[in-house]
Amino acid sequence: MKPTLHNRKTMVLGRPNGDTPVRAACEIIARRREGAYWTVSLSAPDIAERAHPGQFVNVAVSGPGTLLRRPFSISRVSRQGPAAGTVDFVFDAHGPGTGWLADRTAHDVLDVVGPLGNPFPLPRQKVSCLLVGGGYGVAPLFFLAEELRREGLRVDMIVGAATHERIFNAIEAKRITASVTFTTDDGSFGEEGRVTDVLEQVAKDCGTGVVYACGPMPMLRAVAEQCQELELPSQIATEEHMACGVGVCWTCVIPTRTKDGSVRMKRSCIDGPVFNGARIAWENSRWEVGGPLVTGADQPIEEPPPRPTDDELWGNA
Ligand SMILES: Cc1cc2nc3c(=O)[nH]c(=O)nc-3n(C[C@H](O)[C@H](O)[C@H](O)COP(=O)(O)OP(=O)(O)OC[C@H]3O[C@@H](n4cnc5c(N)ncnc54)[C@H](O)[C@@H]3O)c2cc1C
Ligand code: FES
Repeated sequence: MKPTLHNRKTMVLGRPNGDTPVRAACEIIARRREGAYWTVSLSAPDIAERAHPGQFVNVAVSGPGTLLRRPFSISRVSRQGPAAGTVDFVFDAHGPGTGWLADRTAHDVLDVVGPLGNPFPLPRQKVSCLLVGGGYGVAPLFFLAEELRREGLRVDMIVGAATHERIFNAIEAKRITASVTFTTDDGSFGEEGRVTDVLEQVAKDCGTGVVYACGPMPMLRAVAEQCQELELPSQIATEEHMACGVGVCWTCVIPTRTKDGSVRMKRSCIDGPVFNGARIAWENSRWEVGGPLVTGADQPIEEPPPRPTDDELWGNA
């Protein structure tokens, strides 16, 4: 089923629409270094068949401190040709889980659950789409760009990173877009500054009708808030810390605004990770644009459901 703004609620975990996630033992077909990042291609035909841009896989890792699965956005799927049945993700090796993954090699097998979460909705009208990515957050936007182009939509991109080495796959960005603007914090590649420094001008030049973004949370907040000022609709792939990845633990909550203006916590693993940027109540979140953590909960916030009692959970055991 193609995701649109209207049907994506039917695509969450366990809904009987054929897009239900699977758990699979997936062989690593290839693993390659791309600048500061690693790309892994998995043999995962059941996941490839179901996946849409914006969804993620949850990968079991090993070693000390790695009890929980690690979530990674799907950056590409192949459904035909010699690579049919493969799923790619890109990661930055910085902690125990991603460090362990960086040590895996071709033919190792990973325990993977996916695809999880709600995908990016595709516009129902012929609008020009601006994709804004930061760091490894650019990778899943390539998957989205392919789908948008298949729909006959114009795709422009802003690709940002701290330094030149952390710009992900500039050549692919040029290949799949009508125009691409690069920014780096230190000016080592493209324009010096942040993606938000160029967003208004690029959107104007490209006649942008909708913005999609993926990257670090402070960047996403800045992009979403700027889009609101510019009255541009935005869809934001959030990256909140996750424990279970399947809606059980409420670790991953994000405050969102309802139509009546109140704030409700939503689980980014099953209600997201993609949200309408204008609906995220950033001022109630812990994410600041380059600032300290904020709690600012001066609005009514829906509490998570009460924890089950031991009796409810275990019966007489
Ligand atoms: C929906 C989603 C998509 C993601 N996509 C990618 C991707 O494409 N590439 C990539 O490199 N990383 C991605 N991340 C972040 C990635 O999951 C973390 O970098 C990774 O879990 C870190 O594990 P670690 O053990 O190496 O590091 P540690 O920082 O030691 O992780 C310890 C714990 O914190 C959690 N955690 C740490 N950083 C993050 C983070 N930024 N987001 C969520 N949980 C975190 C871990 O899951 C783990 O439980 C994504 C996260 C989410 C939620
Ligand atoms: S990570 Fe457990 S509910 Fe989202």
